[in-house]
Amino acid sequence: MSATAPVRPVLPPDITARKGGVPLVTLTAYTTPMARLVDAHCDIALVGDSVGMVLHGMPSTIGVTLDMMILHGRAVMRGLSKAMAVIDMPFGTYEESPQQAYRNAARLMAETGAPSVKLEGGQHMAETIAFLTARGVPVMAHVGLTPQSVNTLGGYKVVGREEEAVKVMRDAKACEAAGAFSIILEKVPVGLAGRITAELKIPTIGIGAGVDCDGQVLVIDDMLGMFTDFRPKFVKRYADLGRTADEAIAAYAAEVRARAFPGPEHGFADQVKA
Ligand code: KIV
Repeated sequence: MSATAPVRPVLPPDITARKGGVPLVTLTAYTTPMARLVDAHCDIALVGDSVGMVLHGMPSTIGVTLDMMILHGRAVMRGLSKAMAVIDMPFGTYEESPQQAYRNAARLMAETGAPSVKLEGGQHMAETIAFLTARGVPVMAHVGLTPQSVNTLGGYKVVGREEEAVKVMRDAKACEAAGAFSIILEKVPVGLAGRITAELKIPTIGIGAGVDCDGQVLVIDDMLGMFTDFRPKFVKRYADLGRTADEAIAAYAAEVRARAFPGPEHGFADQVKA
């Protein structure tokens, strides 16, 4: 018998119970090594469809497929022992009908082992959120800027200024009423995010939505300085790994071209000459 009790994984009701408590720490993760790092410090590892842009060089999240999310979801699950995984439902896999959403959410959960999914949308997705929740699929909702709608929104802009604020508030409330266990507020004005957080009983997790949310999420490659195609204003860089990697690769290339690598300190120079 083991002397230590197994760690019980964090599940969606645990996240809901964190409302108003210590802020929820969330980062995206797409691979096993990154999931291990996230697991050590975060409550939630989001397998975001941002993977399409930051790892696959896609121009938006529109081209991300269910198979991609399953592959990355499995990789992330291998790296987690404490943090809870949430897997994004990609564009075109849930909007058509609650039945379509259930079929694809069930695949995501069954084929990765993740305990929850995330989908974008407010009032118009409420029926689907209720359908999924009633059938054992915990849903994290996502309102405000919803990147899968970039073509109808006309860009990655702030959503919820002036009259639009009423709609974002209604969207958030509709998701809560439908059974979402938490909700992402992306690029929503700070005051509005604070009001939504005060009015909802489920935790809000902000990205570019100010400090008053119940938690924060960032795309890990943004905050580590590994994705440099563009940088949203709200992203703080905690490291410059892109530059560190560039310098390391340049140093290696210079040594190879100067026939200085592999050097004797690497042990196989003699073997190479022999
Ligand atoms: O795909 C993603 O990484 C996301 C976050 C930006 C919240 O949805």
